[in-house]
Order: sequence, then C-alpha cells, then structure tokens
Amino acid sequence: MAKSILILPGDGIGPEIMAEAIKVMRLANDKYQLGFELIFDELGGAAIDKYGVPLADETLERARQADAVLLGAVGGPKWDKLERDIRPERGLLKIRAQLGLFGNLRPAILYPQLADASSLKPEIVSGLDILIVRELTGGIYFGKPRETRVLENGERLSLDTLPYSESEIRRIAKVGFDMARLRNKKLCSVDKANVLESSQLWREVVEQVAKDYPDVELSHMYVDNAAMQLVRAPKQFDVIVTDNMFGDILSDEASMLTGSIGMLPSASLDANNKGMYEPCHGSAPDIAGKGLANPLATILSMSMMLRYSFAQTAAADAVEQAVSDVLDQGLRTGDIWSEGYSKVSTREMGDAVVAALAKL
Ligand code: NAD
Ligand code: IPM
Ligand code: MN
Repeated sequence: MAKSILILPGDGIGPEIMAEAIKVMRLANDKYQLGFELIFDELGGAAIDKYGVPLADETLERARQADAVLLGAVGGPKWDKLERDIRPERGLLKIRAQLGLFGNLRPAILYPQLADASSLKPEIVSGLDILIVRELTGGIYFGKPRETRVLENGERLSLDTLPYSESEIRRIAKVGFDMARLRNKKLCSVDKANVLESSQLWREVVEQVAKDYPDVELSHMYVDNAAMQLVRAPKQFDVIVTDNMFGDILSDEASMLTGSIGMLPSASLDANNKGMYEPCHGSAPDIAGKGLANPLATILSMSMMLRYSFAQTAAADAVEQAVSDVLDQGLRTGDIWSEGYSKVSTREMGDAVVAALAKL
C-alpha cells in the first residue's frame, strides 16, 4: 500500500534543503520500493503568505492523514513583525502539539571525517554518538498563563509558565530509558531541580520510572553543568533526557560538536511512532537563496523517517552510508569546509548523495 509523506518545505533555506532531501528520497523510493507518495503543503511564513495563518486547518488535516511529515524550517525577518500569535514559529508549535509529537530525538553523531570541523579538539569528540531526547509538547513553550499585562504604574510585564504533569514527565522519561536500552544503557536526566518546582517533580518521576529499567544506569545533572560538560567531555553521555527548552538549547550546543548545526537531524514522535522529521536548525535567513546551506541534516532527518516511521532499516542505513561516502570524497558545504576540501553548493551536495546512494 502506498505510504503518504507530507512535505512542508517552509521558509528561508527550507525549500533549498528540502529539494535535496526529496531527490534522495525519490531514489530511495525506487531502489527499495518504498511505495512513497509525496504530498506538498506550506507551514510557517510560506503558509502565512498562502493561507493567512502559519498552519492552516487543511494542512493540519493533511498531516494527520499522512504516514509521516518531513519539514524544512520556518521563520524569517519578513514575518517577525507580525502579532505573536500568528508568527511562523507558532505554526510549528501547533503542528507538534496537535499531532501529539512529544518525543523529540536529536542524535549528535560525529562523522569521523568531520573531526576537524568540530569546534572542539578531535580527541574530545572522536567517536561521539549521543542522543538528546527532548520533551516537545509541554513545559514553558506551552504553559498558561502566558501574557503581557499592563501594571498599575503603566509599565508592561510579560510572563511565561513552566508546567509539567507527572504523566508528561513519565512518558518522555520512558522514551529516554527505552532509547538508552537500545544503546549503551546510560541515561542522564537534565533539569534545574535545585531551583525549579517543575524540575523537582521531573526528577522524582524519572526516579520512579527508573525502577522499571534496572539495566539502565540513571544519573541526574543540572542544566548549567550539563551545558559545561557537553563541551568539556561530551563522550561521558549516552542518552540525555530533558525538557522542552533545555533540550532546544543543549541540542544546538551539541550540534557544534559534530561540526555544524547543518548536520543535526531530528525525529518528533507520538506514542505510536507516527512522526515529523526536521533538521534541528532554523531557516537561516542570512544564507537563504544563495545555495550555501548544508542539506545533510534534512537528508539525515529523512533517513530517520525511513527508520522510525517505516522500519526501512536497509534504506536508512544506505542513506547514512551515502552521506558518509560524500564526506569521504572531501565534499563540504561552507559550514563544514576547511582548507584542503572541495567547497560545494547545496545542490552539489544533494547530487553527490544521490550519486553515492545510486552506487550502493
Ligand atoms: P538558524 O538555525 O536558522 O541559524 C543559525 C546559524 O546557523 C546561522 O548563521 C545560519 O546560517 C546557520 N545555519 C543554520 N542551518 C544551516 C545549514 N543547514 N547550513 C549551513 N548553515 C546553517 O537559527 P536563527 O538564526 O536563530 O533563526 C532563524 C529563523 O529560523 C528564526 O525565524 C527562527 O525562529 C527559525 N528557526 C526555525 C526552526 C525550525 O523550523 N525548526 C529552528 C530554529 C530556528
Ligand atoms: C527548534 C526551533 C523551534 C523550537 C522554534 C523555531 C519554535 O528552535 O526546532 O529547535 O524552539 O523548538
Ligand atoms: Mn532550536
């Protein structure tokens, strides 16, 4: 039976990187007879331009009907002045929440060929393979009240709220433990339990869930220390589980260990492994439209889709091998380029991955 993939290119570099991921997906589709049917729609600024809102109801319905969603990135200066509730980013948050995509997997893996592109010394990052499990539909991103009020003295006060229920913590903790079980059986839960009420509950619930996973070694770390440890000795981590905002920040930090934010893919999964797949980076307005963006994070997100939504392990492995092969060939987009390598455009990088995949 055909599998439908909803493609949401988004804004900025979104359409450029998506075009390359689609080429790779089409080849994988033929080569491995995946039976994919692609459907296209808009999210973010492009959706504001087309529908007047960052996520149209019909788009959300298409996402619900699809077997998986592949997203580029959203946002950009063109829409930054809009009212807060209809900014492009609101569309992204809404689709995550409406689809119940609470489990966000952000693997930070250093391809050995990129050891010298990392901002850290090769010996600190060589062999790096960590997984950040980020809670994606709760916490301060969604908490109410969330408002700006005018005080009696006339000045404005804005506030956000950071709520977590036991069930929200339990289900993301389970994802963390399950992932750790499939890997090196070490889980580090990152919080700010020395200050925040919600983090104290987080720690308690993670401890409870740990009782069902005696084979996984659990540790806890405060987020400020975790940010430091990630650049001091990142290989001490196997799986990190953390809340929505800490996970957002730590995953961008972790991306530089792998050479570039342009290398970091992600999967956002619901309770049944229905998923949306997107690079961790944004729409990069500073380089949009110039053919400079690295498409590998999007191509690797597509490969996560093959793995998690469709259990197409051979196809996913092959896409990752093709990425490794183009790095072996010395091809680098600007973000991972250094002296001695061939600098290529977004399209050249995508074409090279297609050629490498065709040879496998
Ligand atoms: P960004 O990730 O877009 O860019 C940060 C820096 O990384 C920029 O210098 C950019 O050129 C570079 N970069 C990002 N992706 C790259 C790639 N594939 N190849 C090479 N270089 C790359 O973050 P930002 O500048 O803080 O945000 C820009 C816009 O993107 C904002 O509107 C923001 O809200 C949005 N955003 C969207 C998402 C998403 O859609 N998931 C994620 C983050 C930011
Ligand atoms: C990400 C982005 C989003 C987030 C923004 C654009 C809403 O930074 O996917 O990491 O903070 O989750
Ligand atoms: Mn982010």
